[in-house]
Amino acid sequence: MRAWTLRRSGPPKVLELTDVPDPELGSGDVLIRVEAIGINYAEVLSRKGLYGWAPERPYVPGMEVAGRIEVIGPDVVGRSVGERVLCGMQYGGYAERVVVRANRALPAPDHFSMDEAAAFGVNFMTAWVALTEMARLRPDDRVAITAAAGGVGTAAVQIASAFGCDVVALAGSEEKLELTRSLGAAYTVNYRAPDFESSFDSITADRGLDVVLEVVGGDVFRACNARLANFGRLIVVGYAQLDYTKWNPFSWWRAWRDAPRIKVMDAAVASTGLLATHIGYLLPDEERLLGVWSALSDFVAAHDLRPIVGSTWAFEELPEAHRFMESRASTGKLVVRVGQGEDSP
Ligand SMILES: NC(=O)c1ccc[n+]([C@@H]2O[C@H](COP(=O)([O-])OP(=O)(O)OC[C@H]3O[C@@H](n4cnc5c(N)ncnc54)[C@H](OP(=O)(O)O)[C@@H]3O)[C@@H](O)[C@H]2O)c1
Repeated sequence: MRAWTLRRSGPPKVLELTDVPDPELGSGDVLIRVEAIGINYAEVLSRKGLYGWAPERPYVPGMEVAGRIEVIGPDVVGRSVGERVLCGMQYGGYAERVVVRANRALPAPDHFSMDEAAAFGVNFMTAWVALTEMARLRPDDRVAITAAAGGVGTAAVQIASAFGCDVVALAGSEEKLELTRSLGAAYTVNYRAPDFESSFDSITADRGLDVVLEVVGGDVFRACNARLANFGRLIVVGYAQLDYTKWNPFSWWRAWRDAPRIKVMDAAVASTGLLATHIGYLLPDEERLLGVWSALSDFVAAHDLRPIVGSTWAFEELPEAHRFMESRASTGKLVVRVGQGEDSP
């Protein structure tokens, strides 16, 4: 089968389209014929050698796919060939076939297209765990979301709006903010505009932020933290502006300066909390994973939420999708289609 392999870190062109053996099926596994791959920012960081959860190179990156079960391994019950599924993984998803434990092949919601199924799992699970399990969202909370027009961001804006929260969406362009308003954001702030701090103040002067879902770092992290209300919770989910190279000590210093951090005594004085989460910890904990999945699925169905697929790419164009995500021009989820993958529910 074909798969994109990463042998060294670097720009998108270091991803190589390779022929590799089909993955082997063990007891309790299913083999999935991939129809759509969801691209995650963590894979951009992995490609650059900046992601701690990546395995040793060479490896096939890719943390989520949607497709159909093609082969069912020994000791698997209750699954059928042809079933539409989606699944998350640490790596291996940039391929035409993947093998996963049967329990991790989650049923793709019937009314989602394959593109939407590939855009759903990681982004919605991340936003859901951050907002509801970690920050314990309440309907009367005022919630700020950064990179709000991105994959995780559009999921978080929809979830928090559906909860009844007052959503403040922050992003890097007016076009992105427009998208977040269409998803329910009541207030928007462009953090790349020269008047960022004052326009943020005009929204938070009367009422601070009860919850912040933060994925950018640096000045954006600091500005959100400074505007937390008493008892506010800031949850770090990512650090998108992380960038450094081995040969440039100035870039190490910049990465250190912009890393999200707080002083505990400052948090004590303001009565605020800093939390952080990584969705990868759900993977080995199948019971917890299925509990989160079930609560999220019920919520999404009850509120008729859907992932936002911002752009689609052919399998052969996968490095271009990386380049686009890095350019900060993308919105919603970037989905790579494999084969003729039919994009209908
Ligand atoms: N903790 C977890 O379990 C977990 C799981 C999934 C994702 N994440 C994190 O959540 C964040 C969003 O992930 P995603 O896959 O949904 O990506 P995304 O938000 O669709 O794309 C990344 C966005 O980050 C923003 N950004 C800010 N500074 C940037 C920079 N210097 N270079 C590039 N982009 C920058 C850009 O939006 P603006 O132009 O609007 O700033 C860009 O569009 C990432 O930081 C990712 O690592 C964490």
